Amino acid sequence: MSISQQVLLRDAMRRLNLTRDVFATRIGVKRRALDSWLLPESSQEFRRMPEVVGRFVTEIVENDTLMEKYAQSAQSGPLRDRIAVNGRHQLLSVDQFTRESVEDLFRVADLMQPIARRQKVSRVLEGAVLANLFFEASTRTRVSFGAAFCRLGGSVCDTTGFTFSSMAKGESIYDTSRVISGYVDAMVVRHPEEGSVAEFARATNIPVVNGGDGPGEHPSQALLDLYTILTEFSRLGKLLDGSHIVLTGDLKYGRTVHSLIKLLSLYRGLKFTLISPPGLEMPDHIIEQAGARGHDIIQTHSLKDGLPGADVIYTTRVQKERFSAEEQVEGYTEDFQINKAVIDAYCDNDVIVMHPLPRDSREGAHDLSVDLNEDSRLAIFRQTDNGIPVRMAIFAVLMGVEGQIQHSMRDATWSPPSHIGPDDSVFHGLD
Ligand code: ASP
Ligand code: CP
Repeated sequence: MSISQQVLLRDAMRRLNLTRDVFATRIGVKRRALDSWLLPESSQEFRRMPEVVGRFVTEIVENDTLMEKYAQSAQSGPLRDRIAVNGRHQLLSVDQFTRESVEDLFRVADLMQPIARRQKVSRVLEGAVLANLFFEASTRTRVSFGAAFCRLGGSVCDTTGFTFSSMAKGESIYDTSRVISGYVDAMVVRHPEEGSVAEFARATNIPVVNGGDGPGEHPSQALLDLYTILTEFSRLGKLLDGSHIVLTGDLKYGRTVHSLIKLLSLYRGLKFTLISPPGLEMPDHIIEQAGARGHDIIQTHSLKDGLPGADVIYTTRVQKERFSAEEQVEGYTEDFQINKAVIDAYCDNDVIVMHPLPRDSREGAHDLSVDLNEDSRLAIFRQTDNGIPVRMAIFAVLMGVEGQIQHSMRDATWSPPSHIGPDDSVFHGLD
């Protein structure tokens, strides 16, 4: 079975590092035609790409990457070995990735799209069992990792909170991890202490994925965020290299932004603007790591100063649950809220607004406003939807089955709604 035209085209643009406009010119077709070939097959505007174009694209990619492939083949091997930690197939930090390996992972995520969109089913992980060990609140990460594993044919055991785990009786991380490894084939762990998931990982040889370790990292979130940015940029005709990324909110305790800035730093010549209330600035060691790769990093406390020229605004919730008893944040006022008026005043029409979610809708929180919900610049639900293909790709790679995906797919027997959410018709035609 050959790969789909969408996967072929997306991969070609990523490998050649070309925007849709430039790529369309390079292969001698109209941008509109290229857009229609990239749409999901269920879309009314979808068109099948002529076979001759497919052959031409394959040839160009092979030519351009041939030398690179030869150079890499000596040291490259399976993706899971290239990203391994201490020889183990685990995902603890985005530091495990290079630009090449992250883009290889996204190629697997692209392959997963027909399964994520419920057009196809696969059972490559049939018989495998995942333990979802969440010692902190979660909706997205826990459910989407579980759903991703199930969609590959595996099954999931969940445990949530300390109360219902024997850790409440004083059991150590080492013992817990070793015991669970005897029951299951992979673990996703979320825990309130930084470094704790690495401790789980040291006690086992099965794949362990960090689902968030206190204020440390949230690598799978950053991977799906980067995948979203690249997908949105492809539609908007932008390249990530040289773009302007604004991170706002709680940059001190927000683990998603810690992972994301490090991952984005693998690209070239970015401008990062970090906007936080005073006292919630990004930790110095993370700024230094990104700065060492030659990016331009500006810190400010004002949206008005930081937003102009942004290509991406990535806003976050204030992580009150991580504050120490005496910690107070002065200056977290409504001036920090990202809403339609602010975006209209300071940003261009092609900015994208992201948030890892959840947004805090309680009184006193100045999180992302709901008044952008029907604005196509708001990418938050496209972002959450991308959690499934990216997390499926993580499992497939860590468990070494990514090469079997293509042949394993069968048609789904049921039909999902064409738009998953009531507002999605607003985004019709966006892919
Ligand atoms: N859900 C994300 C996390 O767990 C962001 C947040 O909770 O604000 O890190
Ligand atoms: N983005 C994220 O991690 O969401 P949850 O906390 O709901 O898992």
